[in-house]
Amino acid sequence: MNPWVGLFLVALTGGAIAVLGWWLLIATEGVYLGRRVVVLLYDLYARRYDKIKDYYREYEQRYLAQPIMEKIAPHQSPLVLDVATGTGRLPLALMRHERFQGRVVAVDLSRQMLSQGVKNLYVFDDRVTFIWSPAEDLPFPDDSFDVVTCLEALEFMVNSQAVLCELVRVLRPGGLLLITQRINTKLMPGKTWTGGQTLAALEKCGITDANAQIWQVDYRKVWGRKAGDAPAVGSRPLAETLRCPACQESLMVEQDGRWHCPHCAKEAAVGDDGVIELFPLYR
Ligand SMILES: C[S@@+](CC[C@H](N)C(=O)[O-])C[C@H]1O[C@@H](n2cnc3c(N)ncnc32)[C@H](O)[C@@H]1O
Repeated sequence: MNPWVGLFLVALTGGAIAVLGWWLLIATEGVYLGRRVVVLLYDLYARRYDKIKDYYREYEQRYLAQPIMEKIAPHQSPLVLDVATGTGRLPLALMRHERFQGRVVAVDLSRQMLSQGVKNLYVFDDRVTFIWSPAEDLPFPDDSFDVVTCLEALEFMVNSQAVLCELVRVLRPGGLLLITQRINTKLMPGKTWTGGQTLAALEKCGITDANAQIWQVDYRKVWGRKAGDAPAVGSRPLAETLRCPACQESLMVEQDGRWHCPHCAKEAAVGDDGVIELFPLYR
């Protein structure tokens, strides 16, 4: 073979591999390679996440905390669950709101993102709890929270529809759901939904009155309410809500700095940073 043709083919193959690697690992953040890769990538860039995102405090108040407070008014002390919380963006916005008196349980599967979240929220640590666990199988009974949120994360889940229904499962009837969905990208086939698909997906899980707004140019912000009506859960201690993910038969009990299941005797450690490490109990 002509050496120039050989060189050209090598360069072409190298270029194709580089583009594929960029698409799989950077553009789509590992979602087509499975959950482990997604979480590994977040673990790797957890320390730089806040700097890269550079959320503007005033906008977070105006477009996240304030509308949540308006939609749950006159209630001011809800029990909130933020799924895929990352470095604690949503809990931070709520804690900074002058009228918010509730508690937030913040869940993520990247242990490093949670550590950064603890650092961001240490001044509010008596009202925010960070838990290392997956969005696909939340460690709470049905109807446990007044508000459930999931921002900028559903598109990185292997099965977004199943996660959406899991969010709704733990929301009380009449409770408020807030999710975002990525739009304006052709780079993530099968991972982004049209407005109609989002509303249909929500309806499948029992969400009524959903409405969507464009947000931050690249996202759709969607609000909804779980069908039915139940009294507010309110700002209650975690021990009344945390269910053993291993046997799902009992609430966990805090004992000597660990969380213990009275039914199957499994135990979860609490990290030095205060994160409750439930994830090992799922294996
Ligand atoms: C783009 S970040 C969004 C973080 C935060 N909600 C925000 O708006 O800044 C996506 C987050 O989803 C988390 N994540 C991805 N897959 C997950 C899963 N299966 N279960 C729980 N968290 C997951 C990642 O670890 C990461 O922290």
